[in-house]
Amino acid sequence: MNFKIAVVAGDGIGPEVMEENIKVLNAVGEKFGHSFEYEYVLGGGCAIDKYGEPLPRHTIDVCKASDSVLLGAVGGWKWDTLPGNLRPEKALLGLRGALGLYANLRPATLHQALAGACPLKPELVKDGVDIMVVRELTGGMYFGEKGRKQTDMGEAAYDVEIYSEEEVKRIARRGFEIAMQRNKHLTNVDKQNVLESSRLWRSVVLEVAKEYPEVELDHLYVDNASMQLIMRPTTFDVIVTSNIFGDILSDEASQMTGSIGMLPSASLGDGKLGMYEPVHGSAPDIAGQDIANPIATILSGAMMLKYSFGLDEEAKVIEDAVTKVLDMGYRTADIYSEGTKKVGTKEMGKLIRENL
Ligand code: IPM
Ligand code: MG
Repeated sequence: MNFKIAVVAGDGIGPEVMEENIKVLNAVGEKFGHSFEYEYVLGGGCAIDKYGEPLPRHTIDVCKASDSVLLGAVGGWKWDTLPGNLRPEKALLGLRGALGLYANLRPATLHQALAGACPLKPELVKDGVDIMVVRELTGGMYFGEKGRKQTDMGEAAYDVEIYSEEEVKRIARRGFEIAMQRNKHLTNVDKQNVLESSRLWRSVVLEVAKEYPEVELDHLYVDNASMQLIMRPTTFDVIVTSNIFGDILSDEASQMTGSIGMLPSASLGDGKLGMYEPVHGSAPDIAGQDIANPIATILSGAMMLKYSFGLDEEAKVIEDAVTKVLDMGYRTADIYSEGTKKVGTKEMGKLIRENL
């Protein structure tokens, strides 16, 4: 089969981890007889430098016309002082919105070989961590009304947390569907003891739950959820939550995997088109030094094969190669520990290709 992929490599370590991802995808394509055609477009800081805006129309158009989108990372110090709508992050948020990618899947899986890199005590993670965070991605305070106004306490600023029934319904369904494919346990995270938006959220989740009687559903307030994740990480299966809570909890969950450099993500809408990116950022402090961990990006490529192209076997081949290379003792700097073999970005990519 032939697939057209838009590539937004972005800034910082984005381009170098993306390069390894593409080499792995090409190797898989060769093995299974698929061809991937890439169209590189600018988004983030590099687009600001070239076009004066983080998300040019052309980039959106190319992404929309593709079978899927691969994204590296955006942002860096250079653009940190720009106003909100001109910041590199606008590229990410704009693409999520423009492509209607309302469901963000962030799997946090602890490879047994990396148990030592997990900051939690071994007995807390010995049963294996395998959590899927399903984060709502195009609503809530990220996309609600924002602004400034004068008050008698001085200037004030606001970001409105707002969710409609339909928005909650579709993300809740996605959460239940994913739970059905896994261990049939869904944890809804909200703050309904305080927030009106969470009260609507909770009631819609309970309504949707009637369609999935097989799924065991429980609810946690977000503050408690952040605590339970640390205390009993192995008891979670799927977590469904809002945009802002998912942003925070997915970073927390990422640490169970040993490094945020291990975490892939998929952003999906109702169609096949998805956007696949590592959860980590552009890490400008280590860019261009061949030390970044490409695994999160490579695993995002595997998620693309699975969720956008339906190539489950091909995706599994990539995941297995990553596990094998870790089992063989190879590590990038972020997951390195004494007695393992330290390799750079390129070498890690090559090892994964050789073990497909
Ligand atoms: C993420 C990031 C983004 C977010 C930023 C870079 C806009 O933290 O993908 O989790 O907050 O969604
Ligand atoms: Mg985040």
